[in-house]
Amino acid sequence: MGAFESSASRDGRWDRSRLSRERDKLAPGEKDIVAAQLSRTLGALTRRRRLSVLTSGNLGSKDSAHDVFFIKPDSDGKPGDPTFACKRFRKYDNAARELDAIDMAKERGFRTLEPAKMPLHEVDGIGHILVTHQLPRFSTLNQVGWQDSYAGDVTYESRIAAPLRSASKFVANMHRHGITHGDMQLKNLGQIPPGRFVLFDLEGAQFVDPQAAAEDLDFQDRAIADVGTMVVSLVDRGYMWSSSDRMFAEEVTRNVFDPYLEVSANTNPEIVERFESILDEAKLERQHVHPQMAQHVYRQPAMVG
Ligand SMILES: Nc1ncnc2c1ncn2[C@@H]1O[C@H](COP(=O)(O)OP(=O)(O)O)[C@@H](O)[C@H]1O
Ligand SMILES: [Mg+2]
Repeated sequence: MGAFESSASRDGRWDRSRLSRERDKLAPGEKDIVAAQLSRTLGALTRRRRLSVLTSGNLGSKDSAHDVFFIKPDSDGKPGDPTFACKRFRKYDNAARELDAIDMAKERGFRTLEPAKMPLHEVDGIGHILVTHQLPRFSTLNQVGWQDSYAGDVTYESRIAAPLRSASKFVANMHRHGITHGDMQLKNLGQIPPGRFVLFDLEGAQFVDPQAAAEDLDFQDRAIADVGTMVVSLVDRGYMWSSSDRMFAEEVTRNVFDPYLEVSANTNPEIVERFESILDEAKLERQHVHPQMAQHVYRQPAMVG
């Protein structure tokens, strides 16, 4: 059974818990404990000044299941001072796996996060902190107003279809280089600036020899799961929510599958067959999302847009 099938629950519906994973929030006090300890261990990098938790400018990290937060040297800091992103893992192995994945992604020529000189820190009672340099002007595809326009609208092509096509090409390019992501939701498709993608949230990423990827069925399973996650995540953000399934399928084919195949021309042909199963999963998810979106638009017109 492939990874994509196994992410669906028994009645065939996609497992929504993957989209809204239980938040594992740190208490504010715990963030301060991490900052205090990092002030000591990262001291050399920050000329021994104290690091404090940033309470503003954390936009985007609200999409974080790990409750990523940012720390920076105290206010006498100079403009060039580094700001760090802190991601807490319960288990050392998971933190180390993500760090390895960042290194491997970089080796394969992908833009990704920049680990701090000392990237892994154990904090008593809190866990293992992976420290990376904060990427400025970082946005994710979650921030696109997917529900706001439809195929045929004047702005649909530039605001919706074009970014989707470039995201799909990016995912295909990752797969072409033997990398599967493992959690390819829109919130994990980051870009700086828009249109230039950055790989991150790589705890579940896997790397294989790119030459062998086309023959590796497990790899193909994971690749199709990435595309499936991206499409179901689009549905959940309201992409084409009030259009027919047929129009939805046409747009997904045009903006996700076709650009994907354009880039991964040497992909195993099995992938192509399985796009149909992605559409089936997405249609089931649409039935769930449609009433939700309709209600949202009806009750809170001011919130939309
Ligand atoms: N180095 C960084 N620079 C800027 N933003 C970051 C950085 N690391 C994480 N983030 C922000 O935190 C969010 C969550 O990080 P991610 O690695 O996806 O963890 P999670 O597993 O919690 O989703 C990202 O979507 C991004 O907005
Ligand atoms: Mg994430």
